[in-house]
Amino acid sequence: PEAITVQELAKRMGERGADLVKSLFKLGMPVTITEAIDQDTAELLVEEFGHRINRVSESDVEIGVGGEQDSPETLRPRPPVVTIMGHVDHGKTSLLDAIRGADVVSGEAGGITQHIGAYQVALPDKSKVTFLDTPGHEAFTEMRARGANVTDIVILVVAADDGLKPQTIEAINHTKAAGVPMIVAINKIDKPGANPQKVREELLQHEIMVEAMGGEVQDVEVSALKKTNLDKLLEAIHLQAELLELKANPDRSAEGTVVEAKLDKGRGPLATVLVQRGTLRVGDIFVVGAISGKVRAMIDDKGRQVKEAGPSVPVEVLGLSGVPSAGDLFTVVENDARAREVAAYRQTVIDRKRTTTAPVNLENIFASKE
Ligand code: GTP
Ligand code: MG
Repeated sequence: PEAITVQELAKRMGERGADLVKSLFKLGMPVTITEAIDQDTAELLVEEFGHRINRVSESDVEIGVGGEQDSPETLRPRPPVVTIMGHVDHGKTSLLDAIRGADVVSGEAGGITQHIGAYQVALPDKSKVTFLDTPGHEAFTEMRARGANVTDIVILVVAADDGLKPQTIEAINHTKAAGVPMIVAINKIDKPGANPQKVREELLQHEIMVEAMGGEVQDVEVSALKKTNLDKLLEAIHLQAELLELKANPDRSAEGTVVEAKLDKGRGPLATVLVQRGTLRVGDIFVVGAISGKVRAMIDDKGRQVKEAGPSVPVEVLGLSGVPSAGDLFTVVENDARAREVAAYRQTVIDRKRTTTAPVNLENIFASKE
């Protein structure tokens, strides 16, 4: 075989296809479950998932980080990560503002979101939800894809007076590719021209059958402006999250994904990291992409300094030696030497990916699997 589809590889590894897609995304490869990947990528995935393999090619480094499975008894419930997607101006940020009791929209240039915002919200029952806001403008396809790939649930926002638009459809495709469940929020129902039923019918044309049409996808009519039915939307999230039984081990070294990164004039390189397992602490030494660093400070979504961040918590991390790429895997390691080793390893993998045309041989990948 020349290559293997993500689906097939997942089957052989005994893992969920959606988890592989997520990992690939973290490695900077946005592919769908039906697409084929090459041998190097497949090996990398197998490593990420902690299956022991012996590399047959030049690099025999067993870095042994970032892949260990957490045993079931270490797992604790964690908050769902919910990404809000949809066409430009359909009210994503407004909806999140309404849920948070905040006002981000009025501070945005031209009222257009140009980055991924990450927030944690406490629900009335004290449980927490992590929200990622994404831009709807057509220029930000990659951010939408990334949002779909680090999330547990997607909320598709469709304005009831406008219906399905190109980036709505794009968001549907990202969500399907990522294999995550969707909740449809039909927004702006306060508007005179609102036609929620038309939205439901248009969704049907894209193979999304909402509950109101006898299907399984939850749909909620809302108005971010009038704060109508926000409780119903939160309830829908709660219900969906319960079905997923989301868990992570908080008592291990942290791993996460960069949702955005930038160079700040005053504070240097900054990365917003979504912690996915373990607990990230000030002082931790880490590798992100092929960059190493030490957590100098962490800032939460309310601008407060925090000392630690557990699973599903988004934090801004200071202390990087360079600006990583959004989507990079963030891994805490034991010490500086280890950080340098892992960074160097990742760099060789990156370099090799650029140059290699090695034939795929699945025997090699799986022959030494335990
Ligand atoms: P991008 O991030 O640029 O894709 O836009 P967005 O989807 O975040 O939309 P945003 O929240 O910025 O809202 C766009 C416009 O729609 C703003 O003028 C909002 O006030 C308005 N809007 C949002 N929700 C509602 C609603 O429920 N009803 C009405 N009437 N207007 C709304
Ligand atoms: Mg917005």
